[in-house]
Amino acid sequence: MRRPIIAGNWKLNLTITESKQLAQQLVNHLADVADRDIVIAPVFTALTSVAEIIEKSPIQLAGQNCYPQTTGAFTGEVSPKLLRDSGCHYVILGHSERRQLLGETDSFINQKLLKTLEADLKPILCIGETLQEREDQQMQEILSRQIKGGLTNLTEEQMGDVIIAYEPIWAIGTGKTATTEQAQQAHAFIRNLVLELFSPGVAAETRILYGGSVKPDNVDGLMGEEDIDGALVGGASLKAEDFSRIVRFKK
Ligand code: 13P
Repeated sequence: MRRPIIAGNWKLNLTITESKQLAQQLVNHLADVADRDIVIAPVFTALTSVAEIIEKSPIQLAGQNCYPQTTGAFTGEVSPKLLRDSGCHYVILGHSERRQLLGETDSFINQKLLKTLEADLKPILCIGETLQEREDQQMQEILSRQIKGGLTNLTEEQMGDVIIAYEPIWAIGTGKTATTEQAQQAHAFIRNLVLELFSPGVAAETRILYGGSVKPDNVDGLMGEEDIDGALVGGASLKAEDFSRIVRFKK
């Protein structure tokens, strides 16, 4: 069935030296893990240093963003090809912080996603509603727009490499995790959208991660839900022991 993924989004944190230290601690803690995917997303400047440290471990590397062009006059941007060149196998796209702070739209995220797949990177497409949208009963409409917009022009075959992360914005960095029921309900809705857009086979195989205040003490409950295939972890991914416990979730 679907292989679980636990991904750590380090966001704008840690110097190169600190990133290497954390990566080494994770290698020490997690060297024996073989039945689930482990991904960490350091800042761009630390990618190549961290890549060397995790090289012979089960941990894989992700970029936190990319630009939908390969080379050219795009000052300050990083292409999927360069992320691959730095040792990445994944890239986080459309994180709510980028949507909110940098005005990223679904169509821009879709361009990045298509370019990412061309570069042999697996995109982790982030979606999620604000508290206001949830209270206004708009969650389904928002998720539906983000999924349809983000996955425009993708083939069924390409969907095999796409990972979706449901991150309700009200649960990010707030300590307010969605209840297991709220998360499962949203994940089931998303899986059904994927079914409508692609096929039952694609829907059954697409991995959907939950993100938003995932911690060692709530991961087991979340991972026990049928449609939750992993976690995208922010704050707790910066502590080796917490992240390692999250990776070692028990159903
Ligand atoms: P927290 O785990 O800190 O809530 O962050 C979640 C997140 O945004 C991961 O991408």
